[in-house]
Amino acid sequence: MILVLLGPPGSGKGTQAKKLASERGLLQLSTGDMLRHAISQGTKLGLAAKSFMDRGVLVPDEVVINLIGERCQSSDCEGGFILDGFPRTIHQAESLDQMLAVHGRQVDRAVLFKISDGVLLRRLSGRRTCLKCGSMYHLETLLPKVAGVCDQCGSNLVQREDDRDEVIRKRLLVYHQQTEPLVEFYRRQGKLGNVDADQPLEDVTVSLLRAIAAK
Ligand code: AP5
Repeated sequence: MILVLLGPPGSGKGTQAKKLASERGLLQLSTGDMLRHAISQGTKLGLAAKSFMDRGVLVPDEVVINLIGERCQSSDCEGGFILDGFPRTIHQAESLDQMLAVHGRQVDRAVLFKISDGVLLRRLSGRRTCLKCGSMYHLETLLPKVAGVCDQCGSNLVQREDDRDEVIRKRLLVYHQQTEPLVEFYRRQGKLGNVDADQPLEDVTVSLLRAIAAK
């Protein structure tokens, strides 16, 4: 199965994708995580992406299309994967369809995480992230066992550069302008499912599995 998780920043796409990956053995492909990894390694891609990400705007389409295009061809993607944070523009979605069609494949399902902007602001400003292993926590709803330390790998937790208030607002605006049109794109293809993302984490997982199975 090739699954697209669609939704605004902070709606819980990454949390749920990581959960499905660890509990059900599904492969998560997150363009945000890939780009942050490139930044931490100081690669050319990372240097180019950083200025866009820090401002809360999208990295140019061709950069992320090439990134996913290469990654999708790896042998570990043959059994399917979850796309988290890609596609984010109509051009990315059309390119994805074309890249998959070359190999006789297609997106099976796109699930929209529905949630209000007010809840997102609270979630993102309280989020703390482990830059080493990608685990996520929240100052109110998902505390680590030891304050400021990742339960999984023991590294320090940090606030992402783009989780500052003014950048969060920009990311939400960019989402509504450039990514929201994908809802109609996948609805027209008959592939769209929905989850109410403003529920406790476990309930979102149940709704997500239901939305995937509803196809
Ligand atoms: P990316 O890393 O993809 O960020 P995003 O889409 O903005 O999404 P987030 O990671 O912020 O949120 P999420 O929905 O995964 O929520 P999470 O699970 O963390 O992209 C970052 C940047 O990279 C972009 O701005 C852009 O510049 C660039 N980029 C990436 N992909 C690109 C592309 N395709 N094209 C162009 N540019 C691209 O949850 C958030 C918080 O809420 C956490 O603290 C979590 O613990 C908590 N939480 C989660 N679920 C619940 C729940 N049910 N109840 C309570 N709290 C919860």
